[in-house]
Order: sequence, then structure tokens, then C-alpha cells
Amino acid sequence: MRVTELAGALLRETLKEGDLALDGTAGRGRDTQLLAALVGPTGRVHAFDVQPEAVESTRALLAEAGLLDRCTLHLRCHSEVAAALPAENRGKVAAAVFNLGYLPGADHAVTTSPGTTLSALRATMDLLRPGGRLVCVCYTGHPGGSDEAEQVLALAMAAKSEGWEVSVMGREAGTDRPWIADFKRRLV
Ligand SMILES: C[S@@+](CC[C@H](N)C(=O)[O-])C[C@H]1O[C@@H](n2cnc3c(N)ncnc32)[C@H](O)[C@@H]1O
Repeated sequence: MRVTELAGALLRETLKEGDLALDGTAGRGRDTQLLAALVGPTGRVHAFDVQPEAVESTRALLAEAGLLDRCTLHLRCHSEVAAALPAENRGKVAAAVFNLGYLPGADHAVTTSPGTTLSALRATMDLLRPGGRLVCVCYTGHPGGSDEAEQVLALAMAAKSEGWEVSVMGREAGTDRPWIADFKRRLV
């Protein structure tokens, strides 16, 4: 199974009608589309990207699928996620996805970068409700990708020691295969 399919399966397992979901890297909108379909007409999705081309691609895909009205698109860095979400949404996010790397079909020099990625992941973890899930897909084949992925791995290990349920899936050290870090907030 490809990592994107696996990420989709993890999100399907978690999200239900009426939920609040977050896409940290909207890109061409495929993940946002999946989240929007899963939360249904009574749910809400917030999606972030720093590239206007990505936000417009996502908007077009959602409009075509009839899902735009349940989504809020932010042309904004994902590290600002806490400020961008309405205050009443804090602690209510059921699932979030970050698909790191560059926008397919665009300038490969514009990629996610460790500093903002790590602060965005931490901020998103703080927004999750008990039982909520953060799925992060890491790519190591482009410049800077391995360093970013290693920092996500370090975050995953730290989260585990803080009591999060963490699974690292598909990681093969020494290869450039993409892999997933899956963070679940305990129900308590
Ligand atoms: C691999 S693509 C995402 C693919 C997307 N989820 C999809 O389904 O098509 C990574 C995206 O992250 C975006 N990105 C890079 N840095 C970012 C940042 N600081 N905040 C938000 N998005 C960022 C890029 O512009 C790019 O569109």
C-alpha cells in the first residue's frame, strides 16, 4: 500500500460526520477533499498552504466535488494554525494531516521546512481533542527532506515519552522511501 493510501485509511478510521479536521499542507487538495468528504455536510475542514497556486488548486477541486462550503482555505503558514482557527475550535480537532514536501507540478524548491513544520505539528497536537489523530507523511528524497523527516521522528519519540500513542509506519532507514508518523492523543 502506498503511504498516501495508508494515510487515507488512518483518517477514514478516525473521522466521522460532523467532525472538525485540518489539512496542514493543502497542495493540490486531494487530502482536503478526503477530509471534507469524511466530515460530511455538518463538519468543517481548515486547510493551509503558503502557495496561492496550491490554494487555488484546492479551491477548484473542492468546488468541482461540491465540498467547498464545508472548508475554510488559509493562504497562510501552517505554523500559524492556532491563531488561524476560531478559539472555540481549540481541543476539538478530530484529525489532521500533513503531507510534507513540495507541490507536485510546481517549483520543487518551495518545500515544507523543519522549523515551521515542527512548530505547526506541535501546535496542531495541542488543538486535537482526546482520541484525535495527527498523520504526518514524510518524504526524504528531495533536498532537506531527510533532515525534516529526522526532526519529525524526534518529535514522534518525544511525544511517545509524553504519553501519546505514536506509530512510525513504512520507515526504512537509509532509503528515500516516504513514511508516516501517526500521533494519537490518549482518551484519558
Ligand atoms: C506534498 S504537497 C501537499 C499535497 C496535498 N496534501 C495534496 O493532497 O495534494 C506539500 C505542500 O506544502 C505546502 N507548504 C510548504 N510550506 C508550507 C507552510 N509553511 N505552510 C503551509 N503549507 C506549506 C507546499 O506549498 C505544498 O503545496
